[in-house]
Amino acid sequence: MSNKASTVLDKLAEYEASNISTQPLYDEWSQTYEKDLVGNLGYTGHLIAARALAEFAPDKAASIIDIGCGTGLVGQTLKTLGYGHIDGIDFSEKMLNVARPKAIYGKLVPGDLMKKTVIETNAYQAAVCAGSFAPGHLGPECYPEIIRLVAPGSPIVIFMNGAHFVEDDYQSHIDRLEQSKVWKVLEIKAFNYMSALERPGRLIVTRKC
Ligand SMILES: C[S@@+](CC[C@H](N)C(=O)[O-])C[C@H]1O[C@@H](n2cnc3c(N)ncnc32)[C@H](O)[C@@H]1O
Repeated sequence: MSNKASTVLDKLAEYEASNISTQPLYDEWSQTYEKDLVGNLGYTGHLIAARALAEFAPDKAASIIDIGCGTGLVGQTLKTLGYGHIDGIDFSEKMLNVARPKAIYGKLVPGDLMKKTVIETNAYQAAVCAGSFAPGHLGPECYPEIIRLVAPGSPIVIFMNGAHFVEDDYQSHIDRLEQSKVWKVLEIKAFNYMSALERPGRLIVTRKC
């Protein structure tokens, strides 16, 4: 691992440990994010999430919202898989500025998913999110907002760090929404998501009831 990449991960860990908003960090990181994460650390979270979405939402005409889309790694993978109707939302304008010229997304919406967004209810036929659930990022409190954005019957695919999944007891939040018949759990699976490091992750796939 290069020193630069480890410095960024150390900085990220500091934000997460203090649970403060990572938005300034992503603004600062935007220009080298892909090189550090994919190039130096072998990040694959975007591939895991996009491939799962393709399994559970096989219709290539489906309208998809990419939550915490960042520089567009998930959208780029979905585009390569044949999807053509992808919008993205992210609270870092500078990450969005890197995604914009790639012409992957229809709309790129600046917004914080921990609050109610400007997006209409039931607007999408699938939601995907990779690497954006963690302290200082998104938390399970925003599940209802993500669920609001997709139509009944739509898959919601989330890939996140496995340590946060366990420490913050995401399973109980997921179960509560299933017991209330808000969504149905389709799959929860463990994956390592950085080839240069041991980084356990969790893939969570649900369907809005
Ligand atoms: C680790 S990056 C993942 C980006 C992209 N999904 C990927 O796989 O490369 C996390 C992204 O989530 C965004 N993010 C974190 N918290 C957010 C929030 N509360 N609302 C909107 N975006 C958020 C960050 O700005 C950042 O772009």
